[in-house]
Amino acid sequence: MNIDKNKLPTHIAIIMDGNGRWAKSKGLTRQAGHKKGSETLINVVQQANELGIKYLTVFAFSTENWRRPKKEIDYLMNLASNMFNSHRNQFKKMNIKTNVIGDLTRLPYKLQEIVKDVMFRSKDRDGLVFTVALSYGSREEIVSTTKKIAMDIVNKEIDINELNEELFNSYLYTNSLPDVDLLIRTSGEKRISNFLLWQVSYSELYFTDVCWPDFSREEFYKAINFFAKNERRFGGLK
Ligand code: IPE
Ligand code: IPE
Ligand code: MG
Repeated sequence: MNIDKNKLPTHIAIIMDGNGRWAKSKGLTRQAGHKKGSETLINVVQQANELGIKYLTVFAFSTENWRRPKKEIDYLMNLASNMFNSHRNQFKKMNIKTNVIGDLTRLPYKLQEIVKDVMFRSKDRDGLVFTVALSYGSREEIVSTTKKIAMDIVNKEIDINELNEELFNSYLYTNSLPDVDLLIRTSGEKRISNFLLWQVSYSELYFTDVCWPDFSREEFYKAINFFAKNERRFGGLK
């Protein structure tokens, strides 16, 4: 499948959904689905990097996912730790800058330490910016952003009349990222599930029935080609 490199989205965000259903359809445990899903993620990072995509942001664990059974949560937290640890060198070779966003205070201490270290070591790289949303919820982000702004107004760091969209944006977890151009969700669900509500205001939305563990290079290219053929108007006229 061909890709028009002149029409690449700058920022792709993915809701990686359907690990559990994929596993169930194969008679496997949900954990096996998450494991396979983490392999898909590494492949997609490589493919995005090869294509020259500048920003890739993935939804790995939501604030609402804390409602799942402890056993599944523990497995997912371990999987995240292993992913960051075992791909350090590979990501370094690929010049990838890793970011983690969300309410990180809720993560296990060990994972918080890994996240800090990975972000610090990769902060000066200028290749693909790979952002992992972990314990992330858009409403939580907006509320904590509002608190930070309120504090800065109270402390006279900023004046309330200065507050505009650009300044608000600069307080979000995603302050160093541009708006999302293409949002992909796998597994047939057509909803946002509290992901990047502010940042997807003008994104092109792509839904596929394929479950995340089966999301291949071909599926990724299909989504990018869908983006390339859409005409974006941003409320203006052609
Ligand atoms: C996505 O797969 C991964 C996470 C939300 C952590 P799911 O675990 O939601 O899989 P389904 O939706 O139950 O199939
Ligand atoms: C969204 O998937 C969160 C992630 C992919 C990490 P969910 O499976 O949690 O979302 P719902 O429950 O179907 O909306
Ligand atoms: Mg799901």
